[in-house]
Amino acid sequence: MLSGCSGGDGRPTVATLSRAPALSAGVLTADLTRLGAELEHLRGKAAWAHVDVMDGAFCPQLTVGPAFVAAVASTGIAVDAHLMVEEPRRMLADVAAAGAAVITVHAEATRHLHRTMTEMTALAGPERSFIRGVALNPGTPVCAVEPVLGLADLVLVLAVSPGWSGQAPAPGTAQRVRDVRELARRAGTEVLVGVDGGVTIANAAEVASWGIDVIVSGSAIFDRVDPARNLDLLTRELVTLEVPDGKR
Ligand code: DX5
Ligand code: ZN
Repeated sequence: MLSGCSGGDGRPTVATLSRAPALSAGVLTADLTRLGAELEHLRGKAAWAHVDVMDGAFCPQLTVGPAFVAAVASTGIAVDAHLMVEEPRRMLADVAAAGAAVITVHAEATRHLHRTMTEMTALAGPERSFIRGVALNPGTPVCAVEPVLGLADLVLVLAVSPGWSGQAPAPGTAQRVRDVRELARRAGTEVLVGVDGGVTIANAAEVASWGIDVIVSGSAIFDRVDPARNLDLLTRELVTLEVPDGKR
């Protein structure tokens, strides 16, 4: 999955992701009364714990905030913070200070995406203390991220409309992944491409075959039954993947 985490603190950096996509395990459906034990399933198996921060405005649900990010990060498991909040600039510094290894904002959540990504870049600093992500809802034209590709390390393509786990992935997501790759190629910039929403054990290999770098999967892992087994089955689907040459 990941070849030799090279970040000083053991966090994966942009350059260390190998062919098989890195797994970011969504913890929204984990048993939060036993969060510590649930997170232990991820240690050494997933690149990140994916924390869906929702403010009840950008999307209908209200979930967790920077304090939850800090709690998960304090276990030593790297946190991928997915900010589904209006005007994410107001929260960037707190989420960074909480120790997130990835911070992703939505292109639709602000009038000032360029300013937001510029502030995120300044916050990450020259040593890139976290991966800078920008996400797209299924209904947003992919070109919305074109002006900020140079300020992002990751483009997260949502296969579901944000708000809940366990939704079916929207058709057309594979093409949107290809469109993002094409945009980056034309811009002469390298970005990681990830997919979030509706990734299950059954479709993980197909989604990974789209040539993506990051896969987010939540309820397929944390189903309150056997997260450890689910994680093994899911990662097995990813590592046995053969990506035809030229697919990246
Ligand atoms: C949706 C979230 C996703 C979701 C993933 O708004 O951004 O991360 O929790 O859960 P599954 O994998 O169950 O679709
Ligand atoms: Zn998410």
